[in-house]
Amino acid sequence: MSMSDAARTTTTRTRTPPKRTFSDVELDLDQLAESFDVPPSTSSSASSAMAIASSSASASSSSTFASPCPPHPATILITDSPASRSKATLLLTSKQKPKHPHPRTSMQHPSSSAPIKVGVLGATGTVGQRFLTLLAAHPWFAVDALGASPRSAGKKYKDAVSWKQSTPIPQGVRDVVVRECRPENFAQCKIVFSGLDADVAGEIEEAFRAANLAVFSNAKNFRRDPHVPLIVPLVNPHHLSIIPQQQALFSPALTSGFIVTNANCSTTGYVIPLAAMEKAFGPLECVMVTTLQAISGAGYPGVPSLDILDNVIPYISGEEEKIEWETLKILGGISTKESEVTSADGQQVVKKEVKTFDMHAAHPLRVSASCNRVPVIDGHTECVSVRFARRPPPSPQQVREALAAYTPEAQALGCPSAPCRAIVVHEEPDRPQPRLDRYYQDGAGVSVGRVRQCQVLDVKFVVLANNVSIGAATSSIINAEYAVLKNVVQL
Ligand SMILES: NC(=O)c1ccc[n+]([C@@H]2O[C@H](COP(=O)([O-])OP(=O)(O)OC[C@H]3O[C@@H](n4cnc5c(N)ncnc54)[C@H](OP(=O)(O)O)[C@@H]3O)[C@@H](O)[C@H]2O)c1
Repeated sequence: MSMSDAARTTTTRTRTPPKRTFSDVELDLDQLAESFDVPPSTSSSASSAMAIASSSASASSSSTFASPCPPHPATILITDSPASRSKATLLLTSKQKPKHPHPRTSMQHPSSSAPIKVGVLGATGTVGQRFLTLLAAHPWFAVDALGASPRSAGKKYKDAVSWKQSTPIPQGVRDVVVRECRPENFAQCKIVFSGLDADVAGEIEEAFRAANLAVFSNAKNFRRDPHVPLIVPLVNPHHLSIIPQQQALFSPALTSGFIVTNANCSTTGYVIPLAAMEKAFGPLECVMVTTLQAISGAGYPGVPSLDILDNVIPYISGEEEKIEWETLKILGGISTKESEVTSADGQQVVKKEVKTFDMHAAHPLRVSASCNRVPVIDGHTECVSVRFARRPPPSPQQVREALAAYTPEAQALGCPSAPCRAIVVHEEPDRPQPRLDRYYQDGAGVSVGRVRQCQVLDVKFVVLANNVSIGAATSSIINAEYAVLKNVVQL
């Protein structure tokens, strides 16, 4: 596509807000906070309200359920398709009530009007706390049981946890007694979300799967298992198709138990733009990524302050290998071939279709990662350079447009926790920044900026992802929503 074509299909909108009074802005703030996921830090002061109000247009998503995208206090690229043009909403005023109710409170899951009971394992940890914050307002899932270590079991949640979120502990769980992570303590649940420490996650998650519970895990233990999908919900939720094969490994076959894993938080952030590029321009050949990872990625209490303040630590154990390997499983497909396998009772050899993760084998992809821990609390920033297989490669402008237009299946299908913009593309040369951009859409999407020519590979850019939201809890929740919509979870 030429630059002139590009100019016809997209527009960069620099905002010129209409003149407004201060009281208009104060009135609008309540509505904005009510209707969108504006974090307390941006919704609680008049100056933040000004910042929110000064951004104008918001694109709509193709989701049937989604509300308009929240305004963003920065210049971002918005695809100017006829659909988004016709639905684009301008600045809300005190007299304009949002037309769509908040999706999280309005939407019922398709199978039943009853809430789906869920449990949270590792509920006291960094990821566990994020789970509880997100699940408190969830339209389908109701938290029924909390699990943590024997140190916490038997205590009320409020006494067991060292709460580090900027919002209070959700009322519904404050006085809930934390249980040991044994399946019999979660018997009422259909789904468990796991934020367990990797030292214990393997055995515990295995026991929950064997007890026919659907496990959505953040731990690394099963990511390399050839029968367990490694899913970034804005990229490859279709990998859930491996689940029947996973269940068939058991004798008798599991009816509703399975494990789905999330990726490492750094992998998650950067595979979303990589997937958008592959969708638009075909396979990538090489990727170089340098990460600047937040402290919260190491859990609580994490890296000692004397190590991380005034410092950068150029090593995170096992992280580079995880990124390099996980990228291939996530961006690759699933191949099916007929193989001879032993029947579940071990009595005979039968021919069966076997699914395998192809690890991007049709177009080998080389990934090189360098990981650094930096003194940022939340939000992993990653500097990425890519080379495309296709020659000539797309221009940076074409890449920008493809990223801004990317609509993942989870969003199109109507998963209530999916962001309405998977990728926000910034035009300012100094964005994205963790402090300014990590909470946009409650951390459910990623922010990309500085898309430009690379003198060694083809194109380079910066991506920011909230490591505890889309990098962990939000991903698990969208994975579970998608599995419910696709009837993979037995209700
Ligand atoms: N933090 C991130 O950004 C991030 C992102 C993606 C993935 N992950 C992965 O998600 C998992 C959780 O990470 P995190 O940062 O939340 O860690 P964390 O803050 O250290 O929390 C660990 C949780 O595991 C529980 N636990 C520890 N030992 C246990 C035992 N023997 N039995 C049952 N529960 C036990 C802890 O309970 P107590 O409080 O009772 O000790 C706590 O609830 C890890 O596998 C991590 O690699 C983290």
